[in-house]
Parts: sequence; C-alpha cells; structure tokens
Amino acid sequence: MLIIQEIATHPFSDQKPGTSGLRKKTVVFEKNSNYLENFIQAIFNVVGVSGKTLVLGGDGWYFNYQAIQIIIKMAAANGVTQLLIGQNGLLSTPAASHIIRKYKTDGGIILSASHNPGGQEGDFGIKFNISNGAPAPESLTNAIYEETKKIRVFKIANAPDIDLSQVTTLTLENMTVSIIDPIVDYVELMRQIFDFSLISDLLKSGFSMTYDALNAVTGPYAVEIFENQLGAPKGTVVNAMPLQDFGGLHPDPNLTYAKELVLKMFSQNAPDFGAASDGDGDRNMILGKGFFVNPSDSIAILAAHASLIKGYHNNMFGVARSMPTSGALDKVAEKLNLKIYETPTGWKFFTSLMDANMITLCGEESFGAGSNHIREKDGIWAVLFWLNILAQKRQSVSDVVQNHWRIFGRNYYTRHDYENVEAEIAQHIMQNLLDTLPSLQGKEFGSYVVNKADDFSYTDPISDEQAIHQGIRILFDNGARLIFRLSGTGTQGATIRVYIEKYESDFVKQNMDSQEALKELILIAENISKIKELTHLDAPTVIT
Ligand code: G1P
Ligand code: ZN
Repeated sequence: MLIIQEIATHPFSDQKPGTSGLRKKTVVFEKNSNYLENFIQAIFNVVGVSGKTLVLGGDGWYFNYQAIQIIIKMAAANGVTQLLIGQNGLLSTPAASHIIRKYKTDGGIILSASHNPGGQEGDFGIKFNISNGAPAPESLTNAIYEETKKIRVFKIANAPDIDLSQVTTLTLENMTVSIIDPIVDYVELMRQIFDFSLISDLLKSGFSMTYDALNAVTGPYAVEIFENQLGAPKGTVVNAMPLQDFGGLHPDPNLTYAKELVLKMFSQNAPDFGAASDGDGDRNMILGKGFFVNPSDSIAILAAHASLIKGYHNNMFGVARSMPTSGALDKVAEKLNLKIYETPTGWKFFTSLMDANMITLCGEESFGAGSNHIREKDGIWAVLFWLNILAQKRQSVSDVVQNHWRIFGRNYYTRHDYENVEAEIAQHIMQNLLDTLPSLQGKEFGSYVVNKADDFSYTDPISDEQAIHQGIRILFDNGARLIFRLSGTGTQGATIRVYIEKYESDFVKQNMDSQEALKELILIAENISKIKELTHLDAPTVIT
C-alpha cells in the first residue's frame, strides 16, 4: 500500500536556478537533508502537477539514480498521472526535449550539471522543461525560486525503489511509470532530418571519424547512430560508457578538457573528422585533421549549407545567435536574405522565436547549436549535420571552413575565461566597466575606434519579457567587438568571460592564428577592464 507522507522541511535560500537550472556541488544535495526534495516540491507546487504526464531522466552521473527514485515517489504523492522515464534513468537533454514534445507531455525534469565535472566531488543539477520541450522561462524559474524560500512541507510516497533496468510499464498506486527506450525516438528524429544513406556511403568510402563521448550520456546514442546505423567501424565511439564520475574526465567538449580527442586530431594519423559532446549531450565540438572549427564559425557554416539538408531544404524561417557569439552567422544571413536575431546567452531565448516560427537554426559560441527539431541545443545533431555536409561536398573539414571564409569573410574570435574569481572582485570589475561606458564613446585605441559601448538588454518579441544586464558590449567602427559578462553556470566562485572578435574580409589574411590576429584587441580588453590586475591572474584559465 502506498502511504503518502507530508514531511516538514525548512526552506533553502540558495536555490536560485541559473542559466541552466539549479546547479550545485553534489555534496550540497547529499549533506543538506531534503535539499533535492525542497526544490522538486517547489517545482511541483508552482507547475501544478496533479493529473499531468512528465518526463524524467538524466545523464547518469553520481546521484542520478537516487534522485530519480526520490522524484518518482514525490511524483506519485503529488498526483502525477504518468511518468516517462529513460531506461536506467538515462536521457540526454536533447532526447528528453524530443520525448516531451513527441508524446505531448506536460514537461519534464532533467537531472544534469551539463558540462561540469561529475562524481561525488563534482556537481549535480536539476532543470525543469516545459511542455514545448524548452527550459523553463525566467518567469517560471523565478516563481520556483520564490517557492523554495517559503516551502514548509513536501509530499513523498512510502514505497520501494522502482527497477529502472527494463523497458516496461509499471504502476505505483494511481501513477503509471513507463520505462522507455531512451534512444529509438531520438534516432528516428535524426533520420527524418538527415540523409543517413548518404552519410553511410561517406563512412564506408575510407573516410575516418572518431567521436568522444567523454564517458557521458551520449555514448549509447552515438554507438547506435554512428556504428550500428551508419556503419562506422566498431570503436569509432570512444569513452562510450556513461560513468558516474565520467571516468575522471571533464565532460566539456573544448580544447582544454577534451584533450585526448584534440591530441588525436592533431596527430600524424589523425582521422578525417573528430567530434565530442558534453555530459548531457547538448554541446558539440567539431574538428578536422589538424583543424579546430570554432563554434561560432560552425553555426554559420551549418546555416550556409542548410539547403543541402533534407530537413531544412526550402524550410528556413530565420536564424539567431547569442549576443557574445561572433557575427559570422550575420554574414550568412545577409547573403542568404535570412532574418537574424541577437539574443542574450542561454537557450531559452531562442525557443520562443522557434515557437513563433521566426527561426529555424541557432547557436552559441559555447559549443551549442541546434534547430527547431527540439527546444534544446543538440550535440549529436550538429555532428550529423557536419557529416551530411561532408558527405555532399566530399571535401575536408578545413576546406569547407576555408571556402566559407573566402565567401563570407572570417570573424576571428576567441573567448578568455577567468575562472574561480572571488565574487566581490568579479562584481567590482563589471561595475567598473559599467561606470566607464559613457567615457568610451568615440575613444580611439590605436586603429580601433569605439562606435558604441553599452550594457546589453533584450526584449523578447513574443512575450515582451525583458532581460537586462546581459553583458557589456564595446563595439568598434570596423566591426570588432569586446564583450564582458559573468557566467551563470559555475558552482565555484565567479567566472568572467571576455569575448574578443574582429572581421577580416581579405582572404590572404584569413589564415592567422586567432590569438595572434586578435593580439591588439586582447590587450585593449585587458586595459579597459584591468582584469589581470584585479583578479591577480596573469592569464585566463581557459582560452577557446
Ligand atoms: C554557459 C554558456 C552559455 C550556455 C550555458 C548553458 O553559460 O556560456 O552559452 O547557454 O553555459 O550551456 P555561462 O556559464 O556563460 O552563463
Ligand atoms: Zn550540456
């Protein structure tokens, strides 16, 4: 028999969800009793889940299983009608978004701290996605946060754990629990968009690829798609097993953390194509033989080739990029006569444009790209998009990128992160920058003249919701830009991100190293912000 308990609890004042839900050190969830329960009950209270169907799954890292069992019992106690749970508690973020949409559910809970380190020493995260498959909008996450500060009781069923290892349907008193295959629906969606037989021909033609799942959630998806369905040799997917601590790897696909892959792609016997995704499967990194594709360029290249892809042929509404993402996409939009939108950082700003059929493709500089097939960014989708382009063009990755620069010009781009800075110092640096904005107007820095300097804000064209303080922009006459913003996803200290960009239309000057090409602008950024002096760091912690 199911016994529903109402358990007294106390509110936590630190459960404010950031850019991608609530993300904390795992020990915070483990050591503070009812920390998870509080946040889940706050979601349930605000959303009103009685009689609803929800999706539940995560990336499989430490605490995933225990958290799922607690949420199942809380869902039953709160009157949820049906839960769709990925087998073994696994669902990549893109697959969860798709399942929420495909089965017309009322939303879902995704357990992941995305690209942060996992394990007992690492991070854990929870986010709520709404019925269109998109991350909850700010108005909802704010309401959930307000609820976490007041909450006094949570409801939980006194029931045994549920076996998540078999695809089956069970009942927990009045609630149906459907354990679903986490992969099939996603693969079917990819087949609708991309030409699998063309990609398969490429992979069987001597073209070699490697995909690094970094021991995170995309492993099983990648093995099914690249090896089983497209016919790439066994072993194409490396680190394919989702592990609770990612086998000690940091599941963030960038030049710093995906070291093994980067070394392989820059070695003598590098394969033709290399890719990786992050902990929950929404990010992507693309490499060619000895060649790294900057994510901002990647989005522009996908948009420029969309007409080659089955799912997007004659089917493009418009495109969007986050403000700090380079202007490479703008050049494509201009030439192809596509509408382009510049949004604040974070996927949720794209999704309302998608719902209104204003955009089809979008992306961020932070290794995120996606389309209106779901309402999250999608790592494996981006890899398939690249493979589909390569299968059509039969060119190397570097040729595709260099040809793109020749046609559209090159946006030299880099991001410098200063991590683990004391919060007060980071605030002080941002405040100083804000205070100097008026004096920067028209100022000359060598050959760079400031055209506009502002604090970026955005009004959603559909909801009219305003997002303010979304980053400081210094825009120069020649199209160069410097952007400063604070990260919203870190769990330790503050991270200041500095984004540096300049445009080069002359193709003879397009093959420089980007740090070299941007040297002068990097110094200007450091001088204006005094970032090294104030953080006592003599170099950024991560350079992309
Ligand atoms: C980072 C990225 C941002 C992305 C977010 C979630 O956020 O910069 O583009 O949307 O992760 O993946 P940040 O830490 O900069 O707030
Ligand atoms: Zn992620």
